[in-house]
Amino acid sequence: MTDHRSPDARFRTSLLEENDGPATNPTDNRTMGEIIASRFSRRGFLKGSLAVSAIAATVSPLALVSADNARAAEGSAFSFDELEAGIDDKHHVAPGYDADVLLRWGDPLFADSPEFDPTKQSAEAQLKQFGYNNDYIGYIPIDGSAEHGLLVVNHEYTNSHLMFPGIVKVVDKDGKKALEVAPLSKEQVDVEMAAHGGTIVEIRKDGGKWQVVRDGKLNRRISSNTEMALSGPAAGHDRLKTSADPSGTKVIGTLNNCAGGVTPWGTYVMAEENIHGYFSGELPADHKEATNYKRLGIPEGAYEWGAHYDRFDLAKEPNEANRFGWIVEVDVNDPTSTPRKRTAMGRFKHEGAESIVAKDGRVVFYLGDDERFDYVYKFVTKGTFNPNDRAANMNLLDDGTLHVAKFAEDGSVEWLPIVFGQGPLTAENGFADQADVLIETRRAADLLGATKMDRPEDIQPNAGNGKVYVMLTNNSKRKAEQVDAANPRAENAFGHIIEIVEDGGDFTATKGKWEVLLKCGDPSVAEVGATFSTATTANGWFGMPDNCAVDSAGRLWVATDGQGPKATGRTDGLWAVDTEGSARATSKLFFRVPIGAEMCGPLFAPDDQTAFVAVQHPGDGGEDWEAFGRPSYYEDLSTRWPDFKPDMPVRPSVVAITKQGGGKIAI
Ligand code: FEO
Ligand code: CA
Ligand code: CA
Repeated sequence: MTDHRSPDARFRTSLLEENDGPATNPTDNRTMGEIIASRFSRRGFLKGSLAVSAIAATVSPLALVSADNARAAEGSAFSFDELEAGIDDKHHVAPGYDADVLLRWGDPLFADSPEFDPTKQSAEAQLKQFGYNNDYIGYIPIDGSAEHGLLVVNHEYTNSHLMFPGIVKVVDKDGKKALEVAPLSKEQVDVEMAAHGGTIVEIRKDGGKWQVVRDGKLNRRISSNTEMALSGPAAGHDRLKTSADPSGTKVIGTLNNCAGGVTPWGTYVMAEENIHGYFSGELPADHKEATNYKRLGIPEGAYEWGAHYDRFDLAKEPNEANRFGWIVEVDVNDPTSTPRKRTAMGRFKHEGAESIVAKDGRVVFYLGDDERFDYVYKFVTKGTFNPNDRAANMNLLDDGTLHVAKFAEDGSVEWLPIVFGQGPLTAENGFADQADVLIETRRAADLLGATKMDRPEDIQPNAGNGKVYVMLTNNSKRKAEQVDAANPRAENAFGHIIEIVEDGGDFTATKGKWEVLLKCGDPSVAEVGATFSTATTANGWFGMPDNCAVDSAGRLWVATDGQGPKATGRTDGLWAVDTEGSARATSKLFFRVPIGAEMCGPLFAPDDQTAFVAVQHPGDGGEDWEAFGRPSYYEDLSTRWPDFKPDMPVRPSVVAITKQGGGKIAI
């Protein structure tokens, strides 16, 4: 079993998605990211203490150009005054807006929930409180209201060095400072499992401010121990059977729920992403799942769950990992309902599952597989959406066709069906049925010749203009000879955004056209090759697009993951991006997160009067001595956002942004 006590393992839970995938081509060459990093690196400046204000002062060349703030891009759909980029320990929003913390890790969700006490954490308490590392945010109106609804929020993963006291110690080792990391107790592992999953909570806007309805009758916590059903073509297959579940249809829990979606029929879908980190141990020799697991990087072993629970130890339960990596659907109208893992939608490192009703009533879900050189998918339901009968839609996700994208050099895209018996998906290649194809979706897509992308994250269809936006975070491992039209930069450190238009404006089409909307990164550095419009200010550019949202006016908002002192000299945040007319590819900074955090969510309320954003893993990343000058952990944090109390650790939180005096977020 992996030695979980290595600091490296403990600190890498935030970095699981950046690990090299099996399809990658590692190289020792200096990457573009490293070249650019030298611009922002302040190695040696901050030794001894992480004076956050000193960081801000040191790495804020951006402030020099803030006069550009006043400049409005001609034809821009956004008129707000831009926020200044930078790095400090707080969140910031553009002038004229309020950004109020709505839900923090540990906040009570039920009438009988205990108040959060970081020194008295237990699984029992955590199961009645808001979970850790909020990612996807969805809103499901109650009685059609834009001011009263259910907020559904994914809790992707945990950072034990930020959550628990007494885990990390700085020690002297051979005359150098080093980290010593204590193993987690079983009780702490149980808290981690309870802090994963999702929250469904009633919220209401009262006097212009959102409140949590603590005794809402639909409030629910879903965790890594919530019983779920497997449904669709792979349910009950031998490869999904374990000693605890000889039926192959009952799973305990969900893992690493990254982005997600709300279906047109008002259910909550959670995408299982980096499942490899939870499994440890070794498969029995010559085990039939060896190739399958290798393709997904299983086991990775960043978590210590396998030391306490056999199902996470491959030596003891070799099939358990096949029961994760799916899309999970939750009926929020019944807090006792059994969430269902919809196997028809494939098994990979699912980033999200945003959907749209096509002209003929079928429902199309766009799905990213977030790993370097992995794929963009879409799922088209067989049945059609019935807007008048919710119950009739409840199993639409069990039957349909999954497709994978092949982007051609001529600007066309083909959606290749992933169907047993078609093309190479036959017994000759080891597939006996559709269940086999779905369990090994990546291998099926490899055989079909899908286009290897630069980490496909969130994908958002836009009902207003028929376009589909694909966020591609980065891929520093792409070599010059691997560049193609849809992934046009070698050592792509800063990512790009692709825009797809399906043939005939039909989201179910198997062909479409695509173009690159934006190559990200600092446009003032020629080597980067960024393509922001010239109206974009020095605050307005960004790198590493990850999550995104389209507001009801059809405008694109992009959240980032992976910026910071070394990469871009600014924190992650939310940027407004013009997609139409002469302002196309102009971007403006609207909100930024505290140091160490990534920006998740984002979501606009149906009336566009609130932007909900999720601040994930604030205070993390401080294990990087070169960038931060010292590590950041429970006792010595780079920020104590959002409470700023000496006895309160950093807490991932959902923030509600509203316009001062009311009105739409950005006219
Ligand atoms: Fe969990 Fe790919 O972001
Ligand atoms: Ca993401
Ligand atoms: Ca991410």
